[in-house]
Amino acid sequence: MKVKVLRQLYPGSEPYWEEFDYDGPSENSIAGVIDYINFRDDIVTSDGKKTTRIGWECACLQGMCGACAMVINGIPSLACETFVRDIEGDEIEIRPLRKFPVVHDLLTDRTCIQESLKKASIYIEKYDPASEDHEHQYLAAKCLKCGLCLEVCPNYSTGRKFYGAAFANDCYLVSSRNKDKSKEIQKEYGKHFGNACSKSMSCMDVCPVGIPTLATIGKLNRGKFK
Ligand code: SF4
Ligand code: FES
Repeated sequence: MKVKVLRQLYPGSEPYWEEFDYDGPSENSIAGVIDYINFRDDIVTSDGKKTTRIGWECACLQGMCGACAMVINGIPSLACETFVRDIEGDEIEIRPLRKFPVVHDLLTDRTCIQESLKKASIYIEKYDPASEDHEHQYLAAKCLKCGLCLEVCPNYSTGRKFYGAAFANDCYLVSSRNKDKSKEIQKEYGKHFGNACSKSMSCMDVCPVGIPTLATIGKLNRGKFK
């Protein structure tokens, strides 16, 4: 297979494509494909040019940390959860997420996801043991902060005050666990999500842990945190 990778040496430098040959197993994930290319003494492109190792990041390699988020054949995906056997055709095109600044090659800076939560004070200060709706809380708590939902969202771009699905799910989670903060969070939710979401719901199509954000929105819009 041919593997096309959009590379970028450092923040702000000109991106460029490089193509590699892959003849490894189809059971490999795209994370495995990148490793396969990287774990050689000499890294060479399809046309025999010597190049450097592809920069990317991972931690768990089992869909639990969100670090390996990138765009694979046009679809925002986790590299460790996307498999060669499921790719149609004989080309894999990999590029970094487009909504976040590139640090190096496939590595992007997603600090803004945490920053948006900090700015709006969306964190648990007090846990209310009497809170209910544990089933949905469990689903919302699965968020990896991978940024795939932001990558695909037509309303999200860096620097805007719309913070996207990851933010909405945390608003629900924190307010449902600490009712003292509900009013305050409802305001932040309206300002940074509720007033700008156009309900394309593409976030749910790409979320690797299947968070039902539409149900979260329903609960938040009804002010129902129980
Ligand atoms: S809501 Fe889903 S897609 Fe968005 S950051 Fe959380 S895990 Fe990733
Ligand atoms: S490496 Fe952790 S989700 Fe892919």
